[in-house]
Amino acid sequence: MGLHWLMLLLLVAVFAAMELSDGFPKGSDTRASLKTLHFTLGLTVFTLVWVRLIAKLVSPAPLIHLPIARWQEVTAKVVQALLYLLMIAMPLLGWAGLADTKRSRQVDSVLRLAAACFVHREQGSRGNDQRNL
Ligand code: HEM
Repeated sequence: MGLHWLMLLLLVAVFAAMELSDGFPKGSDTRASLKTLHFTLGLTVFTLVWVRLIAKLVSPAPLIHLPIARWQEVTAKVVQALLYLLMIAMPLLGWAGLADTKRSRQVDSVLRLAAACFVHREQGSRGNDQRNL
């Protein structure tokens, strides 16, 4: 449930950051920061959508016991599928749009830094394991 509202907040923030950035002059720090915020939050959505999908597989949503019309059931399923598609396709399209620009190299650096921190932590915990043996 917490993840549900977190995703909503993130999506609103992703849209807001990009829309607000248009209000600042090209080349300004604020505009660049808001765009970077858009990319970062967008990538967070892309990561969390897989967590959501796995959570959905592990514990499916409870059944609705109220009688609802067939068209409502179908509409709900289609809208939900489209939302998932949006949360996967938008970051990929955004990423592709950035391909090989200076900004994409900045985003790559952030990802590389995150990966390096993760590997460092893993190696650290393996080191601790070895010391404990
Ligand atoms: C759920 C995730 C995302 C959503 C819903 C989303 C949505 C949007 C929207 C609404 C725009 C504005 C389009 C316009 O007004 O013309 C936009 C632009 C853009 N987005 Fe995203 N985006 C997402 C994730 C990402 C990610 C992860 C990246 C890159 C790492 C990215 C890169 C871009 C770029 C490069 C633009 C054009 C910026 C410009 O006009 O200067 N987006 N996106």
